[in-house]
Amino acid sequence: METITVSSRYRPRPDLLRGKTILVTGAGDGIGRAAAQCYAARGATVILLGRTGAKLEAVYDKIEAAGGPQPAIVELDLASATEDHFQRLADSLGDTFTHLDGLLHNAGILGERRPIESASYASWLEVMQVNVNAQFLLTRYLLPLLQAAPAASVVFTSSGVGRRGNAYWGAYAVSKFATEGLMQVLASELENTSKVRVNSLNPGATNTAMRRSAYPAENPNRNPAPQDIMLAYLFLMGDDSAGVTGKAFDCR
Ligand SMILES: NC(=O)c1ccc[n+]([C@@H]2O[C@H](COP(=O)([O-])OP(=O)(O)OC[C@H]3O[C@@H](n4cnc5c(N)ncnc54)[C@H](OP(=O)(O)O)[C@@H]3O)[C@@H](O)[C@H]2O)c1
Repeated sequence: METITVSSRYRPRPDLLRGKTILVTGAGDGIGRAAAQCYAARGATVILLGRTGAKLEAVYDKIEAAGGPQPAIVELDLASATEDHFQRLADSLGDTFTHLDGLLHNAGILGERRPIESASYASWLEVMQVNVNAQFLLTRYLLPLLQAAPAASVVFTSSGVGRRGNAYWGAYAVSKFATEGLMQVLASELENTSKVRVNSLNPGATNTAMRRSAYPAENPNRNPAPQDIMLAYLFLMGDDSAGVTGKAFDCR
């Protein structure tokens, strides 16, 4: 798969996201937390979606303390949410916001690191539910709000193993291939009829709880912190990526 890396010389404007409303999933920890804070620091009103209220509240407080626009919190467990939850979420966001300028699909789970031969079906289903089905439903029901924006960006989070499969990555790798597929299908459908652009982004090895659990023997400090990989997250969410759609990006 051909991928694109944003130049390290890219310098996003301080007010890149001023006036924009952006929903970030998995905003309470790891890369999602860094993205939410980074988007708010560039002027965005961020809708923080995640499953752990206390973590979302901590991010909310940090954004407010830093002087960012007042965020919103959506506590939702993507593993158990039904179609009805997504429908009602879209309705309630529509009551508050006229449109949505950005949607960062970031929440994800690792599942089991073991061969397909001995994989558990329950874990397979949970990974697919969180990493694929929930993304589909959220996108499906938020599309009208995204299409109501002057221009909007949907960013799906991929992984190296979502572009080339590798032993023992099981459902996680398959879910990321599906994510790339969803990105391509949606981008193709919207390309000529809509101002919604759709791309995928592979953060690469990043020092988060997920990476530490996938590589317990690794020195976590050899990987960048989430806040150090934000250039591509900003490029894809801001107007500098206008017209870019259907592409697979790497953070580095
Ligand atoms: N870190 C890496 O090296 C790396 C590399 C390639 C791709 N990625 C991808 O980058 C994205 C972010 O990963 P990360 O490293 O930041 O992982 P992380 O630190 O484990 O954070 C994952 C986030 O997703 C949320 N989440 C998990 N299950 C959820 C559910 N059922 N409902 C709602 N939210 C849920 C978590 O919420 P709680 O905190 O409340 O559990 C957390 O905020 C993922 O899509 C991952 O696959 C990461």
